[in-house]
Amino acid sequence: MKTFIVLPKKPEEAIPQEFQDDDNRFPECLVRFLIEEYTNPGDSVLDIFAGFGTTLFVAESMDRVPYGIELDLGRSEFIRKNLMAKDNIIHGDTRKLDDYAFPKIDLVVTSPPYMKHASRQDPLTVYTTEGHYSKYLEELVGIFHKLDKFLNPDTRVILEVSNLKGDEITTLAWDVAREVSKVLHFEGEIVVGWEGFDHGEGVYGYGYDHSYCLVFRKL
Ligand SMILES: C[S@@+](CC[C@H](N)C(=O)[O-])C[C@H]1O[C@@H](n2cnc3c(N)ncnc32)[C@H](O)[C@@H]1O
Repeated sequence: MKTFIVLPKKPEEAIPQEFQDDDNRFPECLVRFLIEEYTNPGDSVLDIFAGFGTTLFVAESMDRVPYGIELDLGRSEFIRKNLMAKDNIIHGDTRKLDDYAFPKIDLVVTSPPYMKHASRQDPLTVYTTEGHYSKYLEELVGIFHKLDKFLNPDTRVILEVSNLKGDEITTLAWDVAREVSKVLHFEGEIVVGWEGFDHGEGVYGYGYDHSYCLVFRKL
């Protein structure tokens, strides 16, 4: 298994104009790489922060069964409109994972909404309520704890996360790895070098030109 890969950051598929200012998708090629590595045709693939549906669309195109949860109504409707398995995208709150019915899942690929240490807006309400970094990490731990019951023994849970440069560096990727390790077994990281997508602050957009795929499985 490679632990350092280089991929183009630019997504292959366009999204509608109304979403383009908030385009925080990971590219299809990353999801394709992970699905190839960790699943077989017919397996189920879940994204609990589905965003614009990259994980679900790639999974479906590779004959896997896609599932997802997305809090933002517009994004979840965009996914529903374009996915064949329309009932498999839930417009809902991942913090309430217990309320949703999923079969056993064979692979989870997701990227949580990011938070800087000094921010006071909660990413897990799409920045509509006050938040604190420690509470955000705590809630992420709660989410991955609830996810456990949907996992097979060899299901990988893969989180794409970056550290964040700003006035000070937020070690988000490392903090997420440490905290989520309390409820899932941390198997290691894949460093993804991103090329060819210039946000004006380094090719990736968070001050870095790489991010981490943190790979977990059941404890
Ligand atoms: C980094 S984006 C994911 C982008 C996705 N990987 C893609 O390629 O389109 C994180 C997503 O999590 C969603 N989100 C934030 N809080 C949530 C929650 N509590 N439950 C479900 N989704 C949530 C946001 O609306 C956002 O679309």
